[in-house]
Amino acid sequence: METGGWKRTLALVMVLVGTYAEALFSRHMDDFIEAVKQVEDGSPGSEPLAVLRMLRQVAGVDDAFIRHFLGNPDSGRPEMSPSLSAYISKAVPHRVTESSEEEGVVLTSDGTTVALAPLLLGIEAGLQPKTAGRVRSLYQLTLAKDLESAAVTQRLGPDGCWDNVTSPQVFTLLESPSVLTTAQVYGGMDGVLLGMEVSAQSQRPMKLSSLLTEYYSRKLGSEGLDGAPPIISRRRRENFKGLLVPQILERQLVKSVELQRSLEGRPKMAVKTKKQLRAVVKERIKEFVHKYMDCPPIIPRCMWGAEPYRGTPTNLSLPLSFMYIHHTHTPGQPCLTFQQCSADMRSMQRFHQDDRGWDDIGYSFVAGSDGNIYEGRGWLWRGAHTLGHNSIGYGVSFIGDYASTLPSQHAMGLVRDQLASCAIGGGRLVATFTLQGHRQVVNTSCPGDALYNEIRGWGHYGEVKK
Ligand SMILES: *[C@@H]1O[C@H](CO)[C@@H](O)[C@H](O)[C@H]1NC(C)=O
Ligand SMILES: *[C@@H]1O[C@H](CO)[C@@H](O)[C@H](O)[C@H]1NC(C)=O
Ligand SMILES: *[C@@H]1O[C@H](CO)[C@@H](O)[C@H](O)[C@H]1NC(C)=O
Repeated sequence: METGGWKRTLALVMVLVGTYAEALFSRHMDDFIEAVKQVEDGSPGSEPLAVLRMLRQVAGVDDAFIRHFLGNPDSGRPEMSPSLSAYISKAVPHRVTESSEEEGVVLTSDGTTVALAPLLLGIEAGLQPKTAGRVRSLYQLTLAKDLESAAVTQRLGPDGCWDNVTSPQVFTLLESPSVLTTAQVYGGMDGVLLGMEVSAQSQRPMKLSSLLTEYYSRKLGSEGLDGAPPIISRRRRENFKGLLVPQILERQLVKSVELQRSLEGRPKMAVKTKKQLRAVVKERIKEFVHKYMDCPPIIPRCMWGAEPYRGTPTNLSLPLSFMYIHHTHTPGQPCLTFQQCSADMRSMQRFHQDDRGWDDIGYSFVAGSDGNIYEGRGWLWRGAHTLGHNSIGYGVSFIGDYASTLPSQHAMGLVRDQLASCAIGGGRLVATFTLQGHRQVVNTSCPGDALYNEIRGWGHYGEVKK
């Protein structure tokens, strides 16, 4: 073989190896963590802060605002294989394309999707030396800047759907995007929570990859979230709610705007403008709290692999006055992972559509024991759950058989407290709605003796008026 030939072959092999390695990594958090491990292995002994700076530099997540808080990441181009740096520079920067594909986000094991940039910035902020015992820039680097822009455009969200939840590559938004998508909100919340966590530890954390693994990939035991550690991604909403002081977030948002202006060399805001901004921001934070803290995490139909509705759905006239509690009976076991709960949803939908001949899965919503609520027919469409009562109430079912045992406390709290207040706040249920067991209005043992006795002690529980 002449020399030109083998050189070309070698070049081709290198390109193929690079492309192959990049293709090996999907947009799943587990794969991103794998990439972080490779960065760590490539520079043994590096502190998490150094690894974060390398990631920030390779990903090009850098502007005057970020530098103001975290400094300049440049410490020479890090040693990294071309395929690894290609993956990082595609996986991390956040962008929404014209066809509503959201980039810079990964699917996590709990079934939610998070933006990586605010997550990594939050952890980096938490590792900075503290000023007067406080982490200065946590909110600014994770949520404040975009939440402020979202305040001006009047909207938060939406969530989206992956092309394939086993090997995710493309995430498409369900509606036209706002400035702050749900994945950015989740990434920001996780950035704040993990930033707080690392800043509170007296020792430097182990590795970044271990921190992410413990947070995102915890397996649940049979008691579900009741026995799970406190700082894990599935508890994101409740942890963030415990932490959030709306007035502080409000102040941080306004400060972010001021800082941004001064970095751009623009004059300070007039007092009147600042006052108006405060008012808008306050409203947006209310919406933020409702959407991301009062409401439970709801896994949309596309994410559990729902078949389309057959025929034309009938709209409900909102707000409704009832919530009917069910158990699924079959499947008879609580589901503890997003994968298992999704498979249960698909099997129930198959049964309802193919064997019962209904248009769709009958329930409005279904509670797993994995920390999620699954969207059945949802808020707007009439269900097929409680014969003769489907137009006046939502049907909410717990996966499992609750004749003699109860769902986890956590799963019951999601329905009793969060789903209900979410529905009231969103105008879907009247504030004085009545909660009943399926058996109160239909001749059935559903939702099982144990669960029925339990819900008789819940607020909003009501006897049937004779
Ligand atoms: C998702 O990707 C996996 C792995 O590439 C593949 O085996 C599976 O068939 C895909 N699923 C769908 C629904 O396309
Ligand atoms: C049902 O609701 C959807 C979504 O709100 C709306 O687009 C549609 O026009 C409604 N259909 C009827 C028949 O009211
Ligand atoms: C309720 O169902 C049970 C068994 O399915 C039946 O024996 C009973 O007669 C039914 N009661 C009424 C009031 O229909």
